[in-house]
Amino acid sequence: MRPAPSQSGDLSNALTSVRSRLIVALDLPSGREALKMAERLRTHVGLFKIGSELFTAEGPALVRQLASGGQGIFLDLKFHDIPNTVRSAAREAARLGVAMFNVHASGGRKMMEAAVEGALEGAAVGKRPLVLAVTVLTSLDAGDLREIGLAGTPEDVVRRFATLAQTAGLDGVVASAREAEAIRAACGPGFVIVTPGIRPAESLVNDQARVATPAKAIHAGADYLVVGRPITAASTPESAADAIVAEMDEAFQAIPGDFTRTGENDRI
Ligand code: C5P
Repeated sequence: MRPAPSQSGDLSNALTSVRSRLIVALDLPSGREALKMAERLRTHVGLFKIGSELFTAEGPALVRQLASGGQGIFLDLKFHDIPNTVRSAAREAARLGVAMFNVHASGGRKMMEAAVEGALEGAAVGKRPLVLAVTVLTSLDAGDLREIGLAGTPEDVVRRFATLAQTAGLDGVVASAREAEAIRAACGPGFVIVTPGIRPAESLVNDQARVATPAKAIHAGADYLVVGRPITAASTPESAADAIVAEMDEAFQAIPGDFTRTGENDRI
């Protein structure tokens, strides 16, 4: 699942592979600004994440526009509904040509299975988007979980939901660096872990409570990193992205083992 590191001898190919693992959160107030930022970063990052704010403001046209320009899109709408509705939403997400989208694991196994079926129905042959689970929102603490009737520590619930998502046929999860290690241990090397809350050592934490550097997240088991403001609010977003890719490359190189990209990730 890990990209081929630069020790393979071809530095530019290896960096292209590592770059494909960097997702920029386009949390910008308008489609115009999002498109401008995407144009600047197009050759510097792998994918763009479109969340509910931008999607609600601009609709699917923006997703289509970015995807048709060859950009990989992570549609971060966290579907959670009855299986039939999620199947239909997943089908439409796949028709938009996104590379990955997500659903709440708490929607249950049948809902997650329906999401994968919908993704297959809507996708071009052999091009199904990755379907990821949100386990426990990082904004919820142990007390919040008790209040909604979920037993165990947040770590227990995360592990339980990640395992259920894997059983339901999902490709991976969105998880903080703090959770990544336990998920990797529970779900194995083939399960995709996408990690937000990334802050390069020298950058502002903003409103993120638990952050990790790009290197730390990769060492914890992340396959993809989601980075927003440290790139989009930088004076030169291109250089900020390049610096993160360089740090990611170094971290991937330091991990022993099999770096061959196989399976689900190859669709992106
Ligand atoms: O600007 P920043 O790097 O904090 O953006 C992180 C992105 O990842 C935002 O779009 C945020 O909604 C998303 N995210 C997160 N923490 C989670 C899940 C998603 O920061 N647990």
